Amino acid sequence: MESKMKPLKRHESIKSFSREHHQGLLLCWKIRKGIKNGVSVERIKKYNDWFFENHLKPHFADEEKYIFPILGDEDEMIKKALTEHRRLIRLFTEENDLDKTINHIEEELDRHIRFEERELFMVIQEKATPSEMQKIAELHDELKFVENNDDKYWD
Ligand SMILES: [Fe+2]
Ligand SMILES: [Fe+2]
Repeated sequence: MESKMKPLKRHESIKSFSREHHQGLLLCWKIRKGIKNGVSVERIKKYNDWFFENHLKPHFADEEKYIFPILGDEDEMIKKALTEHRRLIRLFTEENDLDKTINHIEEELDRHIRFEERELFMVIQEKATPSEMQKIAELHDELKFVENNDDKYWD
């Protein structure tokens, strides 16, 4: 599996979030591979639903609880990130127009993660105080990724 994201200098405390991002980028890769191989949108959606419930939803919640407050709701980057979370939640829970929706998920999740990694997290680790960073490390329970092997449609 390929991941095109270059490793960025990342503070120890938020590395756990970056590892979760890696799984998100892999999801996008799986979707692309599935589409290329003519896998049905229903199969792709089933795996997306599992990923959303078990990984993405808790990841968004933890970012909103531990990371975003460092810059605050009035910050433009935080506003953008929150809007993208809401948009992605809408896409993952959309039951109609699956072809279009799955393409949007692939594009927009990929873009969202790259924005957080390249821009938002850079500013966060610059602006957060050492004790804020320490707190993130203590509070964030990293979601250990255990693959769902029910239907590995990308294989
Ligand atoms: Fe996010
Ligand atoms: Fe994220």
